[in-house]
Amino acid sequence: MKNIVVLISGRGSNLRALLETERAERWSESIGARIAAVLCNRPDAAGLAYARDAGVPAQVIDHRDFGDRRAFDAALAQAIDVHDPALVVLAGFMRVLTREFVAQYEGRLINIHPSLLPAFPGLATHRQALDAGVRFHGATVHFVSDQVDAGPIIGQAAVIVRPGDDEASLAARVLAAEHVLLPRCVRLLLDGAVRLQQGRVVVREDAARLLAFVAE
Ligand code: GRF
Repeated sequence: MKNIVVLISGRGSNLRALLETERAERWSESIGARIAAVLCNRPDAAGLAYARDAGVPAQVIDHRDFGDRRAFDAALAQAIDVHDPALVVLAGFMRVLTREFVAQYEGRLINIHPSLLPAFPGLATHRQALDAGVRFHGATVHFVSDQVDAGPIIGQAAVIVRPGDDEASLAARVLAAEHVLLPRCVRLLLDGAVRLQQGRVVVREDAARLLAFVAE
């Protein structure tokens, strides 16, 4: 069985989407994979409840208990490695990781970011998109590299910006698209349809159309 470890910091709606898709698509049978654990850096994260409800072990590693980033990342890596994961998913994990940590999980560490990268890295991406006046906005799933919100792109969901959109309405549509995109990318990665090869993402022919779509 291939283990997936999901890292969250807050609301956890992407974790919920992963758990629901795992169940609906019977990942343990269809791709021989399961969400083995959830790790979270905030004790008060609402998303922890989704792990609990699904019976998935969840562990809090509070970054405030550590003197520096390296010490926190080392504790995180230790908790991750207990599960010998095939894939580590940053699903709304709001800590910047050290270069050492990223290197340790090269090719099996992915992140979801609420913009069409390389446009709008960082925070307030919906505000950035509205200010820039783009017609398409969306979400990106990418392998993590040592640059923040960069790294080889796995999949992208585009969302059309509507006249009258504000940050809240745009954020809601992008989030709904994330809930389709992230589980899909995870499934295709574990299925071997997508992989990282010498720094580039290689996609199996039949998977390509699933990794780029325009959401409603
Ligand atoms: C999402 O918008 C994700 O793209 C970003 O953080 C947010 C997490 O939301 N990295 P949730 O905790 O999954 O609801």
